[in-house]
Amino acid sequence: MGVLSFRPRSETFAAIDGTGPDGFRAAVLAGLARRQKTIPSRFFYDERGSILFEDITRLAEYYPTRAELEIFITDGAEIAELAAGCRALIEYGSGSSRKIRALLSALPELACYAPIDISLQMLKQEAAELARDFPALRVVPVHADIMGEVDLPASVPREGRLAFFPGSTIGNFLPREAFSFLKRVGSSVGPGGFLLIGVDLKKDEATLIRAYDDGAGVTAAFNLNLLERVNRELGGDFDLSAFAHEVRYNRERGRIEMHLRSRADQQVTVEGQVFAFARGETIHTENSHKFTIGEFHLLARAAGYEPLRCWSDAEALFSVHLLKWGETD
Ligand code: AVJ
Repeated sequence: MGVLSFRPRSETFAAIDGTGPDGFRAAVLAGLARRQKTIPSRFFYDERGSILFEDITRLAEYYPTRAELEIFITDGAEIAELAAGCRALIEYGSGSSRKIRALLSALPELACYAPIDISLQMLKQEAAELARDFPALRVVPVHADIMGEVDLPASVPREGRLAFFPGSTIGNFLPREAFSFLKRVGSSVGPGGFLLIGVDLKKDEATLIRAYDDGAGVTAAFNLNLLERVNRELGGDFDLSAFAHEVRYNRERGRIEMHLRSRADQQVTVEGQVFAFARGETIHTENSHKFTIGEFHLLARAAGYEPLRCWSDAEALFSVHLLKWGETD
């Protein structure tokens, strides 16, 4: 067992709090001024949104979490064997800790766990719980937006870095964003470093649509919470009953899209600015790109990785890839 233990780092949180990932106001005002109105999906995860997302992961229709967990359970030993020498696990967009625990137990050399998340609330909670359950591990929470440059504290070992990006969050990025994200992660794990990443697979459209338009309306509430957040944080006057949750599969781009469709001609005021909605007009709130194994390998290689192995669940709904940085030309 290692000798490092968790120390509360309230000074770290205080430092990040002041300069924290903000940008909600600017993104909303700019997004609502566009022809296709848009609010980026990373803003779903306020306190209530994070709880709603947790609820989504437990829905029968939302297969990705279950399928990915099945892969970690079935193939975890093999994954850990291939990544055995890793000393630092860096999780991008950590959210809740359900997937990380198996991995933490399976990597014997691991000395440090650095969860990175935009939600300070979830980050604090997860870091405290993991530090309690893994007393030999140095837990270094990093409050940051993974879409930007993430500065890892000096206490994260440079050698033997393994980045972890589960949940197919890569699918929420546009292709060019996914490419540059993968390159940034590569340069932060360094030569010989690894990336373990979850990627949702292409499949029949009905299954995809159902996963984002569940019968209980949890995903609808998750989508509409964005407007509630605008009302709460930016003094908006969105009438939530005047917008409908809408899910589309964009075949050409291979992605699920979530929108909020205006049920009427209406005007909405946010921070003193008035935005007009025609009946039927939408706010585009999320893209969730789906890949074939081959498509993802192409992207990974182009970004500078060598795909070492990939695994999928029994129904081939989801995939997990172990990539090594800097092995391609
Ligand atoms: C953040 C990638 C896990 O795109 O599937 C779930 C977010 N949005 N239901 C996804 C989400 C609606 C989700 N991930």
